[in-house]
Order: sequence, then structure tokens, then C-alpha cells
Amino acid sequence: MATPIELFIEEMQKLFQPDEVYIMDGSQEEAEKLANIAQKSKVDGKIVLEKLNEKEYPNSYYHRSNTNDVARTEHLTFVCTPSKTEAGPNNNWMDPVEAKEKMMGFFKGAMKGRTMYVIPFVMGPPKSKYAKNCIQVTDSVYVALSMRIMARVGKQAVERIGSSSDFFRGVHSIGDVNPDRRFIMHFPQENLVMSFGSGYGGNALLGKKCYSLRIGSYLGYQEGWLAEHMIIIGVEVPDGKVIYFLGAFPSACGKTNLALLEPVLKGYKVWTLGDDIAWINVGEDGRLYAINPEAGFFGVAPGTGLKTNPIMIKTLKNDKFFPTLFTNTAVDNSDNTPWWEGASDEIPSDLTNWQGQKYDKNLDKAAAHPNSRFTVSIYNCPTLSPEYNNPKGVPISGIIFGGRRKDTIPLVYEAKDWNSGVFTASIIGSETTAASSGQVGNVRRDPMAMLPFCGYNMGEYFQHWINIGKKVKKLPKIFMVNWFRKDENGKFMWPGFRDNSRIIKWMIYRIEGKTGAKESEIGLFPEENAIDLSGLDIKKETMEKLLKVDKQDWKREVAMIEEFYAKFGDKIPRDLRKHLTELKKKLGL
Ligand code: PEP
Ligand code: MN
Ligand code: NA
Repeated sequence: MATPIELFIEEMQKLFQPDEVYIMDGSQEEAEKLANIAQKSKVDGKIVLEKLNEKEYPNSYYHRSNTNDVARTEHLTFVCTPSKTEAGPNNNWMDPVEAKEKMMGFFKGAMKGRTMYVIPFVMGPPKSKYAKNCIQVTDSVYVALSMRIMARVGKQAVERIGSSSDFFRGVHSIGDVNPDRRFIMHFPQENLVMSFGSGYGGNALLGKKCYSLRIGSYLGYQEGWLAEHMIIIGVEVPDGKVIYFLGAFPSACGKTNLALLEPVLKGYKVWTLGDDIAWINVGEDGRLYAINPEAGFFGVAPGTGLKTNPIMIKTLKNDKFFPTLFTNTAVDNSDNTPWWEGASDEIPSDLTNWQGQKYDKNLDKAAAHPNSRFTVSIYNCPTLSPEYNNPKGVPISGIIFGGRRKDTIPLVYEAKDWNSGVFTASIIGSETTAASSGQVGNVRRDPMAMLPFCGYNMGEYFQHWINIGKKVKKLPKIFMVNWFRKDENGKFMWPGFRDNSRIIKWMIYRIEGKTGAKESEIGLFPEENAIDLSGLDIKKETMEKLLKVDKQDWKREVAMIEEFYAKFGDKIPRDLRKHLTELKKKLGL
């Protein structure tokens, strides 16, 4: 009798009609073999992978994508639930029957002349009861290799699945990389994603945003846990204790830098557990525990340098795991290394830009695409937490939310209690970035940094957050931060990066009850001199501005929040409406 996995492969083979089927075992030899294939194959007339300087960047390869395929495409991403209300106004919706018919049209025979890679993988520590089993098929060797980095690929997934048919099915073909024939369709009820026409991370590595967030959030809603767009870090304090935090920020707001932070404060150390996704469960002791379902970083390259993220530079240059990929960066021809804005102060003189042409500083805005990326194993990370594979996860003491805002949102404040924190997170606004196609720099509401990733109605998602709070015995504290506030001259007021450890230190003092707080209209603020600014040259007035609640700004903010809430009608939990009414009253509205 055929197993459910075998039946799935057979079904995919019939549908796609590939010349060959290759089932991945996750081994190093296999990865080397695939990298060799990728160096000889072309997609769209471009060599898939090119070897980079082995001495500078061990195990590293360069990939240049089609210029139309450089970011997530939210307008082509759908949640296909039986009813539109279930998907909510936060998602594009299509009837599941119609969506499947559409995708079948694209899929039929799409792998003729190609190899179909079958990728069995586990999201989460394989010994964890919170981990989930998955299989993706793809005709892109770049996607197959990327999946090896981003997830725990191999036999353990097959073993875990056994004779069960309960596993996520990811169906992917890069097709002809044509945005007119590109869709990413989610079927939460069937634990299924169909994706066509893109090889880009969030569109194509289906274990990532598609499964671990969109399908995952839906599963969490059904099963009583949370799938979140969050980093996981352990902060070691001078006495050796480690305090675990989650941090949610919209794309390209510095999540990865915070996840690999090298604190400026003596005696502090950050242990990395994840930079993008957290699965959060209520543990046996009634505390919240988080695991990272992923096994690698898919990070934005520009802005990553020795000053902003020295640990990531070490990670990228580490030789532990094969391979590391660089996508749509520039290449320094003098030594065949990847280069991007912020990699060094000086621009190398002989650069090939991300589009494959000689870089001309008079013609090109940037040499690397602003959303160019690295894909690297978490095992390369020198600050990887020894708890990374703990099947129980790590106990969470604080949750940090943030956004990118030049005004309105103070540097840091604390929510009074869990539900105030849920409210605070539900009203996050952030300036849009290059991580998704579309205009950069507009403020859009991005609750919990989950707007593009919540796989069901966000009103119900807010209620789910409130419900989880009721099940937890020792609730984490919830904080809001904004590293990006600017002055009248458009200059960042807070140094950010390694100095953010000063804010985390204050949070730890709050968690441990070592410092008080001042109440304001929007939450609790640091007392005078409570933030450790030792060794930092920053004016008292600047700190005051950074921590100020500007009522005029907030009145504008409230209007935007009301407009956003209105989209969800009566799905917005009553308690959140109450918080909004109270906020308005405090602002004199
Ligand atoms: C992605 O698109 O795969 C991704 C990681 O996106 P982001 O960095 O925007 O969260
Ligand atoms: Mn992300
Ligand atoms: Na990221």
C-alpha cells in the first residue's frame, strides 16, 4: 500500500509531468550536488547560481532573479477560505474551488523538461510536540537549496509523518516567472498552499511566510496557540541570568539586527533563537513558550555591515553549513564577493549591479536591490542560543512591538496589562519598505506586524490574542518601541542598533520590578534617568522629545486607527474598542 507521502508525490508527478523526480534527503552531499546542477542550469537565460570567493565567503553562491521577481507580491497573495469573512478584509480572497481551478491551469504540465524536487521538512525542533510536518514540491533548484537552509529538510520529516496524512502540502512551480501568471494561494482548511510564477523567498519558500505564518496562524487559532512575525532572543544580564523576549516588527525594520544584537552595555549578551517567526504555546506551567519553526535567516542585505550587525557578517562568513546564498546584491569584481549598500563605507570601484550591468553611480540609484537578500543557516550564527532546539521552547518574559515611524510613536513605552498590550499592538502603523512590492514610505496599519501574514480575519485574531492572555498564569510584559523617530531636520534622534540594548535593559528592570514607571495617555514611561545612557552622547532635550506623547500627532493617529478598525466592523473585540474610546478621552477627543 502506498503511503500518503507516496500518493502525494504521485499526484504531483501526474499534474506537473516533470522529466525527473528528486526526493531530498537533506544531506550535505546532496546540497553540493544541487549546487553543481544550479551552476550549470539557466532560468530565464540566467545561470541560477555562481560561486563566490571561497576564502571571503565560504560555501557561498550568487543568484540573480528576474527583475520582476524581487519581493513579496501581496496583491497576488490570496487566502482561499470557504467564505470571504473568514479571510477578513486583511486578505485578498478567492473562492477555493475557483482558485484551485486557476492554479491547475498553470500547473498542468508545467514541469515538462524539468526536475521536480520533493522537499520533506519539519518546522520546529523535530522532537517538539509543537513542530509540524511538511512537504513541498518545486521545480526550482534555487528554491530547493534555499529550503535546505530555512527549514529542517530530510528524512526526519518522512519518519515523523509515517503513515499519517496530516502534513502541510506546498505546491510550487516557478513557471515562466511572469507577474501576469503569478499567484500565491492559501487553503488553510486543507493545510495547503499553491504558488506559481515566482522564485522569491516569501512567495516560493512555502515553509516560511505561507505556512509558518498564514496557515500557522489559522492552525493556532484552531488549536490554541499563536504563530507570529517575531524574533526570539535570550538576553543574558551581568549576573548570568537569561531573560527571553519576543519582538514583532514589520519587514525591514531591523528585526534581524535586533535578533543578532551585540549590546553596547557591559555584561549583557544577546542569544539568538530566531529572526522572523515564532510559534508560541502555553506551557504546562502556564507560561508562554516560544519555538522558532525555521532553521535559517532570509535577511535584507542592504544596511548589514560591521557597524550595524557585526554578528551577521560573521554568520555570513562562517563555513559551518552548506550553502549560503546571496540574491540580487551587487558583486565586487575585484575579488568576486557580494556587495550591498552599507557593506562598506566606500563603494568598490568595479561593481556589477544587481541587474547584471556594470554599476554606474551616476545612473544607478543603488548597486544592490534594496530588497536584496542573504539566505544563511542559523547554525552559522555565533550567538545561536543553546536553547534553540529545546522541544519545549523558551519561556517568554517580554514582548516588544515596533514600527518605523518618523514621528508620533515614542522611543519606548510599556502597556499597562495584557489587553492594553493587545490594543497597542493592534494599532501599530509603519512606513512601508522595499520588502513588498509597492510604494515605499507610506504609513500603513500593520497590527502585530502581521498584516500581510495573518491567515484569517484579523478581528478574530485580536480576540484570539485576548483569549490566549486568559489562559496564561504569568503574562509577559508588552512594550512598544520606535527606533526611527526623526527630528525637524529629518535626522534620526536615537542611534539605534547596538544602543537599543539600553532600552532592553530598562525593560528587564521593569520585568524584575527594579524600576517604576510614569503613566501617560498611551501607557507607562521610563522614570527620569531610568534608561542607562552611560557612554552615549545624547542631549537631555533629545531624550525628552523621544519620549514625548504629542497630542496633535496622536489625534491624527486616532483617526487612522478608527479608519482601520472600521474595516473590520463588529469583528473588532469589544475590549479593544473600549481601549480606543478611553484613549480618545485621554487625548480630549
Ligand atoms: C520573505 O518575504 O520571505 C521575508 C522574509 O519577508 P520579510 O523580510 O519582508 O518579512
Ligand atoms: Mn519577516
Ligand atoms: Na527577515
